[in-house]
Amino acid sequence: MSRSVRLVPALAPLLTLALALTACGGGVHGTPGSSGVRDPYFPKLGNGGYDVTHYDLTLAYDPDRHHLTGTAVITARATQDLSAFDLDLEGLDVSDVMVEGRTARWNRAGQELTVRPARDLAKGATFSTTVRYSGTPETITDPDGSKEGWLRTEDGALALGEPAGSMAWFPGNHHPSDKAAYDLAITVPKGLEAISNGELTHQSTGGGRTTYTWHTAEPMASYLAVLAIGPYQVTSSTLKTGLHVYTAVDPDQAEAGRTALAKLPEVLDWEQRKFGPYPFSSAGAIVNRPHDSGYALETQTRPVFPGAPDTLTMVHELAHEWYGDSVTPKSWRDMWLNEGFATYAEWLWEEDHGGDTAQQTFDALYKGDYYDDPDQSKAVWAFPPAKPPNAEQISANPVYARGAMVLHKIRQTIGDRAFFAFIQAWAADHRHGNADTADFTAYVEKKEPGHDFSEIWRDWLYGDGRPAHE
Ligand code: TRP
Ligand code: ZN
Repeated sequence: MSRSVRLVPALAPLLTLALALTACGGGVHGTPGSSGVRDPYFPKLGNGGYDVTHYDLTLAYDPDRHHLTGTAVITARATQDLSAFDLDLEGLDVSDVMVEGRTARWNRAGQELTVRPARDLAKGATFSTTVRYSGTPETITDPDGSKEGWLRTEDGALALGEPAGSMAWFPGNHHPSDKAAYDLAITVPKGLEAISNGELTHQSTGGGRTTYTWHTAEPMASYLAVLAIGPYQVTSSTLKTGLHVYTAVDPDQAEAGRTALAKLPEVLDWEQRKFGPYPFSSAGAIVNRPHDSGYALETQTRPVFPGAPDTLTMVHELAHEWYGDSVTPKSWRDMWLNEGFATYAEWLWEEDHGGDTAQQTFDALYKGDYYDDPDQSKAVWAFPPAKPPNAEQISANPVYARGAMVLHKIRQTIGDRAFFAFIQAWAADHRHGNADTADFTAYVEKKEPGHDFSEIWRDWLYGDGRPAHE
């Protein structure tokens, strides 16, 4: 003891260093997580080094001032030793960031919010990050010119996120490959409704404001998060199957909206018979004025429609609950796994309800007389569904129509019985997960070892131009 005491002066600097290292995460020396996950079309979307398990969002919106106030508590698991990590957030003002209850340093560059925790985080550790922010959320224009993010409506707002809009209203790991559970509390002026994904677990009014609390237990990609604020007509009911259904209809669309949504149980029932058990604990729909978004979106458990949907649009968006929302693409290149299936669901509905068979739809597309417009007929062959040429075209026709044709080619090859078992098995085996095109082709080959799919993959999935043989 006395010897070491005598040694202290000489060791003091080393000792201080050792203590400092211990203070910084028990000796963990992390490196920064990457600022993107190398999506082929949206390289800055998402972030490396961690995996989000839960978002807890507490939001308040004042529609008169277009002002959003938010606190996001993000629970994540570090996938490497981390000295810093990014969140995606576009616009808005950050007031402070804490990691594990300690103030963290942070800075912003474009859509990247870089957080430097007081202590490095060890690989495998679960940690929580709290971001407080506020401001006027932005509308984001997609590469194809459509609008997403935060959309102002006549008397409220609509938040939509495909492919990159969710970063306009909460910080997160905004890439489809990182799915998480959500709790969202939203406070709005009394008299307005606020609808989101999942189940409404609490509602209270006080001081002229109402708070709605929504819970999403099943994993959700952030592009499927929705928030709709306005004087909606809201219904909540339970189907015979026990499934809870929430609908919200803009008063402007009241009659047509209610008539359209009366079909929702029938569509869900038919889809469960085709695709297997519905993958979520609640369902529903949000019907807006047509110009609020101008497009439909398969937001999880509660798709959004631009006005009262026709039956095929409802069939399409609800099919995404299986194909897209439960089985989610690993990257935006795998978009045809969403849209090919949802389009094929429309063909199957027609086939089962006295319309054209899927074979007739396929033949008409192949021959070029499916569309009235010859340019549209030609557009089917503009590029292979699994390889959109750029971000503008991830939702162009080949991803939808030719994607559905790929599924039909598989059906032709393996026969109806095996095909219908296959589409259910694909959904069941990848339930609440992610998949890419290579996972899909490997899965088909594993399930149906007696057939050769190489020409379908080469010509229909990856090949340029119109394949020579239908
Ligand atoms: N996924 C939507 C559908 O087919 C269409 C869509 C809306 C979309 N916004 C998008 C596709 C943005 C790609 C990108 O129902
Ligand atoms: Zn779709």
